[in-house]
Amino acid sequence: MKVVVLYDPGADDWTAEDVAAVMEAVDDIARIFSALNHQVQRVPVRHDMRWFNYCRRADLVFNLCEGVRGVAQWEDHVVGTLELAGIPYTGSGPWTTGTCRRKAVANTLLERAGLPVPRWTLAQGKIDDDFPLPAIVKPAAEDASAGLDRQSVVSDRKSLKARIAAMTEQFEEVLVQQYVAGREFNVGIVGDRTLPIAEIDFSTMPEGAWPILTYAAKWHVGSPEDLGSRPVCPAQVPQRLAERLCRLAEAAWRTMQGKGYGRVDIRVDNAGRPWILEVNPNPDLTDEAGLSRMAKAAGWEYPELVRRIAEGALREAQGTKAARELLTAPLTRPAPPAPPAPPALPAARRARAPRTA
Ligand SMILES: Nc1ncnc2c1ncn2[C@@H]1O[C@H](COP(=O)(O)OP(=O)(O)O)[C@@H](O)[C@H]1O
Ligand SMILES: [Mg+2]
Repeated sequence: MKVVVLYDPGADDWTAEDVAAVMEAVDDIARIFSALNHQVQRVPVRHDMRWFNYCRRADLVFNLCEGVRGVAQWEDHVVGTLELAGIPYTGSGPWTTGTCRRKAVANTLLERAGLPVPRWTLAQGKIDDDFPLPAIVKPAAEDASAGLDRQSVVSDRKSLKARIAAMTEQFEEVLVQQYVAGREFNVGIVGDRTLPIAEIDFSTMPEGAWPILTYAAKWHVGSPEDLGSRPVCPAQVPQRLAERLCRLAEAAWRTMQGKGYGRVDIRVDNAGRPWILEVNPNPDLTDEAGLSRMAKAAGWEYPELVRRIAEGALREAQGTKAARELLTAPLTRPAPPAPPAPPALPAARRARAPRTA
């Protein structure tokens, strides 16, 4: 089988570390398929579309592309191109990647489906005076904790206004959301399996820092916020709560029409009520990242996780291909059945039959 591992080679402002973080998963996954005796190509996505020629000849595209030149919204077009061309690819489709990244759209859909989302609003430069505090101010269409730092959570009106003003300078859309104090959980989903739940343990967060996953916590290895946010998997939770979190994550995943693999981030407030923070299609697939940790807790080593994601994509594509063939075949009206012929008389009686005309 020919496998293309598709990725974003980055933009001019990417550091060597940023590039290395992407290449780690690309190389690991390429090695896994080579070891299975498949032909593998690592293909960077650029606007010149040369990448598409490689994909057209592939039996499977393993999509690690989270954007083009670091611009997240172009990810949807890459996925959409693969979808349109009928090339089997891993992970979610363009509708899901597009809607999940736009947090206001995702929140609206999740709420409409009756799922609990902390109160939120898009702050177009200003905000209602009665918006409950503390609140978190985040970019409305970014992920990976972009724009989140120690000042993201505000507990008085003045800081809220100042933070909105500062964020609006940097990001087109800014979302303000009621801050949920309590435990933070991640629920991973691969195919139709929900993996053991992980928790972020914030107990070693530096004094005065809000227990949230800031950009530094996610990406600056060894920073106080990284050291202060330790993932624990499987999470120590009572069975009933675990069940509740899994069902909630699955409902959110269905609502967002997730496919392949994903991760749902949830907080549980001090009264025990769960709240959905976001649904992540195609989450980080490096071996050290959350999904791999959860897969290990389910008994799958990293290559097994990668293989299952690929297998799911191929299975899905087979159904899609069959459906596409059925739908695109010319639909000719079948000829009406011929009227039944009169019953034939036995030869002897036919000879004696009277003439009628
Ligand atoms: N409403 C909220 N209440 C408490 N913490 C939040 C809330 N929203 C976000 N956070 C914190 O910020 C982190 C990143 O926010 P999230 O909405 O998941 O954005 P991203 O797409 O950047 O991961 C979360 O993991 C959580 O720690
Ligand atoms: Mg998140």
